[in-house]
Amino acid sequence: MRLKDKVAVITGGAQGIGRAIALGMAREGAKIVVADLQGEKANSVANEIKALGHGALAVEVNVASESSVKHLAKTTFDCFGRIDILVNDAGIYLKSSVVDMTEADWDRTHDINLGGNFLCCRAFVPAMRAQKSGRIISMASGIGYYGMKQFSHYAASKAAIIGFVKALARELGPDGITVNAICPGSANTAMPRGHRTEEEVMQRLHSTPLPHVLEPEDIAGPILFLASDAASYITGQAYNVNCGTYMV
Ligand SMILES: NC(=O)c1ccc[n+]([C@@H]2O[C@H](COP(=O)([O-])OP(=O)(O)OC[C@H]3O[C@@H](n4cnc5c(N)ncnc54)[C@H](O)[C@@H]3O)[C@@H](O)[C@H]2O)c1
Repeated sequence: MRLKDKVAVITGGAQGIGRAIALGMAREGAKIVVADLQGEKANSVANEIKALGHGALAVEVNVASESSVKHLAKTTFDCFGRIDILVNDAGIYLKSSVVDMTEADWDRTHDINLGGNFLCCRAFVPAMRAQKSGRIISMASGIGYYGMKQFSHYAASKAAIIGFVKALARELGPDGITVNAICPGSANTAMPRGHRTEEEVMQRLHSTPLPHVLEPEDIAGPILFLASDAASYITGQAYNVNCGTYMV
């Protein structure tokens, strides 16, 4: 029970990696706010957590909307009275070559992937500051380091998250708040399936130095560690979790 009685908000918690983080943190004793654009799916995850005997709340939120994120913060404080851990997991993965890319897709990618990080941090940091403790963990991507053709908007948004996390780590360190990023390699979720055949997805998942298909739970593990007391003095870091595909 490494997170006993902590309150954790997981954006993008309705499926994939976010769901694995939500369930993993609940099993470690945290009360969970499952925050996602897909309200019904968020509700199912919250019910799964409650069925395990842990506290959970589902909130439908658009992390790219200031008013929606304000509502998420208010609902969290009304229900649980505090926040200890914020996981910025919500993200989208659109595909387009740069010359065919619409400004709408460029803006949407940045508004959700990067802007969502900003709005959620701005909404929850004052409470963390007041209590002089907090953990922020943001989901970047290996693509933010090594790039990927036809995903320049996604790569730029994920590289920006790494810079954002490092700046916030410096800004919030004096208040006892740690800020880190996780950079997954290709993981076995719905996201990569939006743009690749099943054969291509499987080929990518199997092309790793460690012979293992990266599952959402494999990414949740290091996030649970970063949220725990064992990681009290780790801040401003971006960790690759990728079975060795990319080595810094
Ligand atoms: N799956 C991978 O291979 C992989 C690799 C590297 C990084 N990542 C990152 O990990 C995170 C989770 O990925 P996943 O594979 O679980 O994706 P996923 O598509 O399965 O889940 C993403 C979740 O985010 C939610 N979401 C999207 N836009 C939102 C918005 N505006 N407001 C609130 N919620 C919103 C979706 O409803 C969904 O539940 C993402 O940030 C992604 O970029 C994934």
